[in-house]
Amino acid sequence: MKYIIAPSILSADFGNLQRDIEMINQSEADWFHVDVMDGVFVPNISFGFPIMAAVKKHATKPLDVHLMIVQPDNFIGEFAKAGADRITVHYEACTHLHRTIQLIKASGCKAGVALNPHTPVTLVQDVIEDLDLVLIMSVNPGFGGQQFIHNTYKKVKDLKRLIQGRNEELIIQVDGGVGLQNISALVSAGVNSFVAGNAVFATDNPTDTIAKMKSLTVNSLS
Ligand code: DX5
Ligand code: ZN
Repeated sequence: MKYIIAPSILSADFGNLQRDIEMINQSEADWFHVDVMDGVFVPNISFGFPIMAAVKKHATKPLDVHLMIVQPDNFIGEFAKAGADRITVHYEACTHLHRTIQLIKASGCKAGVALNPHTPVTLVQDVIEDLDLVLIMSVNPGFGGQQFIHNTYKKVKDLKRLIQGRNEELIIQVDGGVGLQNISALVSAGVNSFVAGNAVFATDNPTDTIAKMKSLTVNSLS
């Protein structure tokens, strides 16, 4: 089993963005997690294409773009052009989710769907074969540094059951309040992709924290 650590650049120091990107390049991290917020779907605005372009220019690892925006269909082509390798849209933001997933794939990216804490995993059961990744939000989206919601464990187990015999290659990602304190338990529940913002960037030695996270995933019983 391959475990993926995806530091969220939302928690980076934007005044020293190149330095933080290089830190991730040199670390054991696997992907760059890129949180795009529009101030409509979530009560916060993060950044858009200019920052994406700066990240793409320096990053040597795939960009995992998490769109917390309404009407994502309008921007999927542009995010793909800006260098996204994977695009995850929110279930709650897509009226025609099946169409949106096909759009992502047609743009050449891997497709993911994110579920807010109140959204049951059963709501993606009819598109599960079409997906590369399901992101289970373990906080309400909008901000870094929030507290992990415990019901996430149950949802991960529900999703594990749902993909059995249907899409066992699906990546189960968790985002929000993830860190050294809960990563082993999440591995045991079935998570294989971990987004971490504060847990990485608010520590004295982010490179070392990423290495510790990686070794916890590899050494936990799954
Ligand atoms: C929350 C974002 C997360 C966030 C995670 O809306 O989707 O990716 O950056 O931050 P932490 O790890 O600090 O909870
Ligand atoms: Zn995110």
